[in-house]
Amino acid sequence: MTRIRFDGSEEKPLSQPLDCDPPENSIRVTPCRACVKRRSPGLAAREAGGLVRGVTVQSLIIDCDPGVDDAVALFLAFAAPELELLAVTTVGGNVPAHLTQRNARIIRQIAGREDVPVHRGAERPLKRPPAGAGAFHGAEGLGDLEPFEPAGIIGDGPSANAIVDLVMSRPQGSVAVAVIGPMTNLALAMRRERRLAEWLGPVVVMGGARAEGGNITASAEFNIWADPEAAAVVFGSGCQVIVLGLDATHQVRADEDRIAAIEAVDSEAARTAAALLRFSQRVEREVVGGEASPLHDPCTIAWLMRPDLFQTRPCRIEVETNSDLTRGHTAVEFRVDPATARHHWAVAADGQGVFDLIVETLRNAA
Ligand code: BDR
Ligand code: CA
Repeated sequence: MTRIRFDGSEEKPLSQPLDCDPPENSIRVTPCRACVKRRSPGLAAREAGGLVRGVTVQSLIIDCDPGVDDAVALFLAFAAPELELLAVTTVGGNVPAHLTQRNARIIRQIAGREDVPVHRGAERPLKRPPAGAGAFHGAEGLGDLEPFEPAGIIGDGPSANAIVDLVMSRPQGSVAVAVIGPMTNLALAMRRERRLAEWLGPVVVMGGARAEGGNITASAEFNIWADPEAAAVVFGSGCQVIVLGLDATHQVRADEDRIAAIEAVDSEAARTAAALLRFSQRVEREVVGGEASPLHDPCTIAWLMRPDLFQTRPCRIEVETNSDLTRGHTAVEFRVDPATARHHWAVAADGQGVFDLIVETLRNAA
């Protein structure tokens, strides 16, 4: 049986073995299809006909650097039946790579989604020294959460290889990638496999600054600033990129009422997400001087689930790599032919709608 993807093209079903009945608490490297289906709302929905709330299930890789807002994005994606999460690939960014992969495995364990592989990725940007944003995420990246060594193992091979293998083994255009950290892994993957850009589905990026100005410098946003050369590779590759930059994510703010609504959902995932958001809110008050912290990374997942919550404009985006002063600035040119534009810049977001989506998705998974 064939199914119809977002872009209207046909897609063949997955083929995986049906052969395992693991003992309680065991974690297999490659879980069997029955185990995966039990834990994966996306795959179960996909096999039930591929339609959830009227949209086709989207296969997805999340490339991240957890980070408190990355963690909330992971909780949302782990709980979403609209998404078939193929892998989480990690990269050094907010904290070093050995911590981002551990943090992703911690979040996976809390969400009960050990069926999703987590890969370790690039330790440093293509040409720059590693950055860090511990002031916004806590020294180990997960705010106040007491770190622990998670039970689930690290996936085979580095993040860049996992991206290439997963995308190239699936039908063209069928796998989306949400990039919510520095874009090093995807740039490395594109260097490794020249056909990757044309094989990818939508690349949904949290990054970039235009009307709002920057958050790490006057003109740059952290993820793009951290590895501008990697961002330039991705934006110049010809793949379709949807960008949720600060112009949009600053419209999605975690105030007390919104955090409390998440906290009221009866699951460990929701309570942990709320605690992470409270940490961010405190940082916002103490470091930035604002009241409600922007919810950056979950906007990419929300866009995949509910693009109607965002207003985007076709454009061409180029990244500043030469100037020290404006390193990582995203130059967004709207004077393009909409029919051929490969980049889309989010200019507005429905903040309450994004939080309602998070609450509803976590509640349905609880
Ligand atoms: C981005 O930078 C990181 O600190 C956050 O996780 C987010 O991806 C916001 O500028
Ligand atoms: Ca991030």
